[in-house]
Amino acid sequence: MAPIVDLDPGLVSKYDLPRSDKQDYLFAKGMAQGMTGYEMAVKLRKQRLFAEVFARLPKGVEATVVEVGLGTFPNASYYFDGEVKSGPSSLDLVGVDPNDAMESYATANLAKARTSGSKLDANLRIVHGVAEALPLPSKSADAVICTLTLCSVVDPERAVAEVRRVLKPGAPFMFIEHVLSEDDPDLAQLQLRFNAMQIAMADGCHLDRKTLDVIEKAGFSSVSAERFSLPGFGLISSQVAGIAVA
Ligand SMILES: C[S@@+](CC[C@H](N)C(=O)[O-])C[C@H]1O[C@@H](n2cnc3c(N)ncnc32)[C@H](O)[C@@H]1O
Repeated sequence: MAPIVDLDPGLVSKYDLPRSDKQDYLFAKGMAQGMTGYEMAVKLRKQRLFAEVFARLPKGVEATVVEVGLGTFPNASYYFDGEVKSGPSSLDLVGVDPNDAMESYATANLAKARTSGSKLDANLRIVHGVAEALPLPSKSADAVICTLTLCSVVDPERAVAEVRRVLKPGAPFMFIEHVLSEDDPDLAQLQLRFNAMQIAMADGCHLDRKTLDVIEKAGFSSVSAERFSLPGFGLISSQVAGIAVA
């Protein structure tokens, strides 16, 4: 089990900004109830990426997997997916998120995922924290997962550098994120126009992030990624997904 480490409070407070309980509650509820269509749209892609992550996990021993921006844990089912052959003997899941109102939804999603019949032994620890200051030692994680979170962090470059820091050499970082469109100028213009409103309404979610550029410049040994469009998802329809290897 990877140790959770205490961080310099000055560093944490720089990125873990003051939050409103009411907004956290509403945002968690909104994420829990409003993302079904999105999750269906990315299901096959997530299955494929999780299979790649699992293929890279150590075999026959416990593996530590960190979800940065755990949220309501919509990814829970992929850890117990019958299609995903689990190499590790057990999973030490660490979910990091600054919104404590996500926890009950995440725990419920994990409980639901466990009923899928998979025998995989997995323990989830939910830790209050932020991507920019991950409460884990360097080179302690066998994988990091990040879905729809780098749009919301305060400092994407620092967040991705932290992901790389905590990964063991050769370990995968899996990501799916919405980004500023590169191939649809009309969409990009709309994303820029509504960016401030989105930040205010959706817990700091930016529509103008160039997340793949950030990941590609972060010093990973390899980055394999694709840009894709999700028809019907408007301002978040331009997405990137892939795996970077530390
Ligand atoms: C749009 S939600 C996505 C949650 C989940 N990963 C998913 O796929 O549904 C963004 C999440 O990032 C979290 N978040 C916001 N700022 C963060 C930060 N600086 N570091 C880590 N997580 C953050 C939010 O609390 C929220 O749970």
